[in-house]
Amino acid sequence: MFEYILEKIENAELRSAPYRHLYIADLFSQEHLDAILNAPEIRIPPQQSDDALFDALYARGYKIVNFPGCTTEQKKYVDWHKSREPDDTMNSACEGFGITLRLFEPGSGTIASLRDFIASEPFNAALARKFDVRYEKTFRDNGIQKYLDGYEISPHPDNRNKALTFMVNVNPHADSESLDHHTHYMTLKPERSYLTPFWEHNPDIDTCWVPWDWCETVEQQIRNNSLVAFAPSPETLHGVRARYDHLHGQRTQLYGNLWYSDADELRRLDWEDLDLRDPTRRPVSRKSAKSRIAALLPQSLRRRIKRAMKRDTDTVVKVRLRK
Ligand SMILES: [Fe+2]
Repeated sequence: MFEYILEKIENAELRSAPYRHLYIADLFSQEHLDAILNAPEIRIPPQQSDDALFDALYARGYKIVNFPGCTTEQKKYVDWHKSREPDDTMNSACEGFGITLRLFEPGSGTIASLRDFIASEPFNAALARKFDVRYEKTFRDNGIQKYLDGYEISPHPDNRNKALTFMVNVNPHADSESLDHHTHYMTLKPERSYLTPFWEHNPDIDTCWVPWDWCETVEQQIRNNSLVAFAPSPETLHGVRARYDHLHGQRTQLYGNLWYSDADELRRLDWEDLDLRDPTRRPVSRKSAKSRIAALLPQSLRRRIKRAMKRDTDTVVKVRLRK
């Protein structure tokens, strides 16, 4: 049913800014897009409360999933959503608290075919080929997902064990393109650009999430029916911060990753460890050039130089006294 998409992937040119990625503006044919957006699993009727929305989603085959920056507890999310008070479990680079649901039991034929297609080897292998990712070294994880209000992942390049990430917007609400729930594609601000070479030259240290004000948005994936895919590298910064009314339509994506099967466990450094501009760091000591050079020498050598200098001074003083 969706095989024409393989050809679109094959023929699309990769874009280079802000980093190497694939962008396809109109992924599905109009007929397929209409069928997807009007399917009962995608277009949920307006709801009166968060709990009613959860019930409607469960009834259509969705389940809460463990996802970065999200809780897996409905009550915890609903309580937070009423107050929006910061919570201990929130990532320190974020202000939001999300919850993500994935469709596990599609009820309609169209959506079942769609789910099978994005999970299929031909689709994932076509994306892998585009980025020279060795598909046989990876495993797939993907699904049709809804992200409720507050969902936030601050800018990050994706962990090193991810080989590929793809996202397709299939938002059912007519005003989705004007709402604030879209993925930002970003670059580091000049004063934070030291991070890219640091991550590049330290492949044994994993990348991390960073605060929003370390980055600038270059583009947002606003358009419905658009696909973005990239192979994570130290440059592939992206983030999302959803602030919208989810009772009338939810941020909905076809989302997936290829993960390296044999990835090593890596050391972590969080943004706090990498904040070289932190004003609370101790001030730079203003030592003289002489004492900075001396500090580089072994202590035994320093002692010998000091003794020799003292001998020279003594000799000068003695000679002077004799005169
Ligand atoms: Fe990501």
